[in-house]
Amino acid sequence: MLRIAPSLLASDFADLKGQISMAERGGADFLHLDVMDGHFVPNITFGPPVISRLRPHTRLPFDTHLMIQNADAHIEEFRRAGADIITVHFEACPHLHRTVQRIHEVGARAGVCLNPATPTALLADILRDIDLVLIMSVNPGFGGQSFIPHALEKLREASALIRQIKPDVMLEVDGGIDAVTAPGVVEAGANVLVAGTNIFGAPDIPQAIRSLRAHGLRQKMA
Ligand code: DX5
Ligand code: ZN
Repeated sequence: MLRIAPSLLASDFADLKGQISMAERGGADFLHLDVMDGHFVPNITFGPPVISRLRPHTRLPFDTHLMIQNADAHIEEFRRAGADIITVHFEACPHLHRTVQRIHEVGARAGVCLNPATPTALLADILRDIDLVLIMSVNPGFGGQSFIPHALEKLREASALIRQIKPDVMLEVDGGIDAVTAPGVVEAGANVLVAGTNIFGAPDIPQAIRSLRAHGLRQKMA
C-alpha cells in the first residue's frame, strides 16, 4: 500500500481549511504537519493551537513532523491538539527511547526521523519500539528543495532493517518528492510519500495527489 501525505507547509496558510478539503478530495491518506521551532531548524511554522483548530475540519490522520528541540515537553500538547502520528528527530532527542514511550503513553503512533547525514544503522536499537521511520531526502527546514539522491540508499537500508526487525513499520520519505523522484523512492522501499510543493504548488491539488500516487506506483493516469 502506498500512502500520500501532502505537507501543509507549501499550502496557502490563509486558507488552511480549503486546502485540506482539496487534499481530501484528491484521496490523501495523511496530512503532514511540519512543526519548526527556529532552533533545531532555522524556520518557524506553527504549533498546537493551529493544529487543534484544524482538527474538527478533517478526518485525515495528522502526521506530525516535529523539527523541534525538547520535544518531550510538548508531546502531550500535540496529542491533545489532535496529532495521530508524532515523529521526532533522532538528532534532537538525547533520550529517544523515553520520548517514544511517552508518545505511545499519550496514545499516538511514534515515528523517528533521520537527517540526510545520520546513518540508517542507528535505527536498529529503536525500530522495535516505533511505528514509522521517516527518511529526510532534503535537509529539514524548508520546502521546495532538491531531492538528495543518497536518500535512495538510506531507504534501501532502512527497508531491509524494517523487514528484519519489525515489518509493519511504515517507511516515509520527505523532501523533493515529485513525479520524477517518486518511482525511485517507492522502489527503494518507501510506502509513505510526503510532498509539499508538488501538491500544493500545483494548479489542481486533487489531481496532483492522484498523479503522484500513479507515478509512485508507475501506473499510467487514465
Ligand atoms: C522540510 C519538511 C517537508 C517539506 C517538504 O523540512 O519536512 O515536509 O514540506 O517540502 P517539498 O515537498 O516541497 O520538498
Ligand atoms: Zn516534513
